[in-house]
Amino acid sequence: MSKSVLLKSSLAKKYWMALTGLFLCLFLVGHLLGNLQLFMSGEEGKRAFNEYAYFMQHNPFIKILSYLTYASIIFHAIDGYLLAVQNKKARPVGYAANKPSANSSAASRNMAVLGTVILVFIVTHMANFWAKMHFDKMPLHSMTKTVEVPVGQDPMTGEVIKKPIEITYYLTTKGEYKEQVYKDPSSGQKQEVFDVKDETFFIDKNSGLKLGEGYKDLHSLTYAFFGQDRSEVGYKANEYALIAVIAYVISMLVLAFHLSHGFASAFQSLGLRHPAYTRLIKGFGQAFSIVIPLAFAAIPVYIYLTK
Ligand code: HEM
Repeated sequence: MSKSVLLKSSLAKKYWMALTGLFLCLFLVGHLLGNLQLFMSGEEGKRAFNEYAYFMQHNPFIKILSYLTYASIIFHAIDGYLLAVQNKKARPVGYAANKPSANSSAASRNMAVLGTVILVFIVTHMANFWAKMHFDKMPLHSMTKTVEVPVGQDPMTGEVIKKPIEITYYLTTKGEYKEQVYKDPSSGQKQEVFDVKDETFFIDKNSGLKLGEGYKDLHSLTYAFFGQDRSEVGYKANEYALIAVIAYVISMLVLAFHLSHGFASAFQSLGLRHPAYTRLIKGFGQAFSIVIPLAFAAIPVYIYLTK
């Protein structure tokens, strides 16, 4: 291939890498804002996060953004790999002879390696959360309350005899809590009022009526994944939670390095190099590459430490 053809194809790749990279930065901001709700536990926090996750999965505009995100990850990874191969071919002598540390940062020289680690992170991360959310019959958002119900009267004193019964309520997408399961804690006997026919619909066992859709309990899945036991709603604590938390923190460190070079470099590749803005873009890029990964890393650490 002639030098000018090589240069043109390398510029085209850089251009697409910059566009997809900046789009992925926007995705990171959106994803982080949604995930910050994970700092809230209790019924309110759980409900807010599960309703948000449901919205993200069902809103048609968000669906288009999601497909753009998947495509951007794939394009960004392929173009990055091709660019790294091309650069290696164009520079057979290697960096060692050129004193690389004198004129480039460690992050800029290792973008392909850092990117590969992030890709491995994204694939395992999506297998653990996204795939379960889309393809598993996950337990639905539920809440259990113990109530005292009258079961008779004391013949001697005339006092009402009460017994504790656990009632499980499921949250429907109409925003109502529906009673689903009654359980007698003393005998362990259960009586189901509605049958969860599949993962989204409640069917009244007696009438066969569809009562409403339910929310998949992604909040409890995430809490259990990072070490908190949620057996009562169907999610056992992950035995390897500590390893998962450490892997997430290391991945976020790698993401920070990747962004520390990638963010400003994307603006350069797009030709936005006006001297007045260069310092601003670089400064913003540095702040972005610290704040975003740090906030992401704080989520698994917080969940693990508050168990
Ligand atoms: C460390 C904290 C993080 C947590 C707790 C978390 C949690 C989740 C959850 C629960 C989902 C499935 C629900 C949804 O689609 O919103 C998801 C999806 C996803 N996550 Fe994360 N995430 C984290 C960090 C990241 C990071 C740093 C990246 C990228 C480098 C990432 C990339 C993705 C992608 C690409 C999806 C699929 C999104 C879609 O379908 O539109 N996540 N994440």
